[in-house]
Amino acid sequence: MLKVTHHGNLPSELFQRKPLNVFITEDAELVWLNGIESRFKVNLQSIEKAPAEWALVGDRSGLALRDADKRKVELLNETVYRRLRGGRKQALAKACGVRPALRVLDALSGWGTDALTLAGLGCDVLMVENQPSVCALALYRIQNFPHPVDIICDDIEKVLPHVTKNFFDVIFLDPLFGPHPKTAKSSFPMQVLSTIGSSCDIEQLLFHSVKLASSRVVVKRRHSDKSDIGMKPDWSITAKTIRFEIFET
Ligand SMILES: C[S@@+](CC[C@H](N)C(=O)[O-])C[C@H]1O[C@@H](n2cnc3c(N)ncnc32)[C@H](O)[C@@H]1O
Repeated sequence: MLKVTHHGNLPSELFQRKPLNVFITEDAELVWLNGIESRFKVNLQSIEKAPAEWALVGDRSGLALRDADKRKVELLNETVYRRLRGGRKQALAKACGVRPALRVLDALSGWGTDALTLAGLGCDVLMVENQPSVCALALYRIQNFPHPVDIICDDIEKVLPHVTKNFFDVIFLDPLFGPHPKTAKSSFPMQVLSTIGSSCDIEQLLFHSVKLASSRVVVKRRHSDKSDIGMKPDWSITAKTIRFEIFET
């Protein structure tokens, strides 16, 4: 469910619709189009014109990301519901200090699994993702999710200067980790995200975020990452393959 609010008076230009190509099959059901059009000017094209690389495809079963080998990324909310069964005891919830109506800015929101988990636990979440096809698929996922979430499809570096200080309690940062030979393979959608998603300057983002969040900034890192990201965390929570570093503000 997409909830459109003002998020501390963020300017409307951040919510302006951007162009998006979607390739459709002849039997495509276009029920998803309305929701996607709230953030994108959708240009529907025939599936024959789809490029060889990952592209958004609408078919009978909905919207997905597909490549020339017909491998498909479909975002199922089952993953989120499974996570929600872990409630507030799971590491993500503890790291963010989850409570009802906690305002969270998920600044690098990707497919939105973390964002939707936090929303399902009662937080008021705004997602930001700069890759249009990732953002569109996350938006499609939000439409089929019963808890309200909102998303900005833009670069977080453009968004942060407009964020009112202390409006968000928590800023959550989950940068792409990059390949690591010894780390267990991530899920297929995360593997695809690591090829089509953007990398970012996490030190800069952390530096700006700690000045804005009223409570804390949480950074998700790989379990084995040892070096500081410009600042020492106040505390951390270690899960199986990842670690959440918490920077109190
Ligand atoms: C590791 S993923 C996040 C995964 C997410 N937590 C989830 O549950 O699906 C990081 C995401 O940040 C996005 N990203 C990187 N730099 C960005 C920027 N400057 N502005 C907005 N999004 C950015 C990438 O495209 C990628 O989708």
